[in-house]
Amino acid sequence: MRFSGPAIQTPAHGKNHVFKDIEHLIRLAAVMAIGLIAFIVLRAAVVPRSFGQYGHYRGAAIAEAAAHPISYAGHTVCEGCHTDVVEQKKLGKHVGVPCEACHGPLAKHADDPASVTPPKLDTAVLCARCHEANSAKPKWFPQVVTADHSGGVACDTCHQPHKPRIEDEKTAASGRKN
Ligand code: HEC
Ligand code: HEC
Ligand code: HEC
Ligand code: HEC
Repeated sequence: MRFSGPAIQTPAHGKNHVFKDIEHLIRLAAVMAIGLIAFIVLRAAVVPRSFGQYGHYRGAAIAEAAAHPISYAGHTVCEGCHTDVVEQKKLGKHVGVPCEACHGPLAKHADDPASVTPPKLDTAVLCARCHEANSAKPKWFPQVVTADHSGGVACDTCHQPHKPRIEDEKTAASGRKN
């Protein structure tokens, strides 16, 4: 391979110039400068303005997340009005299951109960979601093969959803303790 540019000077030919081939360095520096400018311009164009305001994320994301409408009121809000359900729930094993795990998001109802009525629940779907027998579930968790167990009858025909144990229901009705 041959160079078509000026012949390479050897030290024997005149003085030893440190920067004799400086145009190569200038070209290299120019390419790097263009790359750097392109990076800065592109970065300014694609990185959102508020990035890094508080940390390694968009500062504006906080306000955006806060602006989402609230769908869940939280069980403490429900409990403030539905004290009868709270008392009932305390007596059974559903005590630890929050209202909206079954009733769904009801913030709108909690804000304005007079005009927003919660939808009726389909217990065949709801109860099976947690209690359908499945070998992957822990053995201690109460589970039934719903088709065999209920015979197609709605679960809340026999079970009170807020206090699901039927035996408790009987003892409560007859006033017996155990
Ligand atoms: C400010 C008081 C208040 C709060 C808070 C509230 N409710 Fe209610 N809720 C009511 C009233 C009043 C009714 C009766 C409305 C009616 O009968 O039309 C009702 C009715 C209901 C009903 C029965 C609807 C029906 O079919 O008759 C359900 C279920 C219910 N609320 C669930 C909830 C849940 C779950 C929450 C928490 C997310 C909640 N409520 C928060 C006042 C409240
Ligand atoms: C395990 C699921 C489950 C949980 C947890 C639950 N509910 Fe219910 N609730 C039901 C079902 C099922 C019904 C009956 C069907 C219907 O009304 O949609 C019902 C009915 C109601 C009713 C109307 C009739 C009644 O029995 O008083 C109100 C009010 C209510 N629930 C409020 C609440 C509140 C408040 C909480 C939390 C403290 C709560 N529920 C927790 C499943 C549940
Ligand atoms: C969100 C999940 C969930 C839903 C939905 C749910 N349950 Fe439960 N259920 C539980 C949990 C958790 C327990 C307590 C398990 C334990 O600690 O042993 C339980 C316990 C029970 C028990 C055993 C009670 C006892 O004292 O031994 C029955 C019966 C039951 N549920 C029936 C129902 C019925 C009927 C429905 C529908 C109205 C329903 N469950 C909906 C989670 C759920
Ligand atoms: C015809 C009445 C009846 C219907 C309908 C019914 N059950 Fe039961 N269920 C019972 C009786 C009785 C028991 C035993 C007493 C108890 O633990 O409450 C029981 C027990 C259970 C248990 C506890 C099992 C255990 O290992 O502790 C679960 C969970 C349960 N039922 C869920 C459901 C679900 C989900 C539905 C709806 C698909 C349903 N049941 C419908 C009568 C019924």
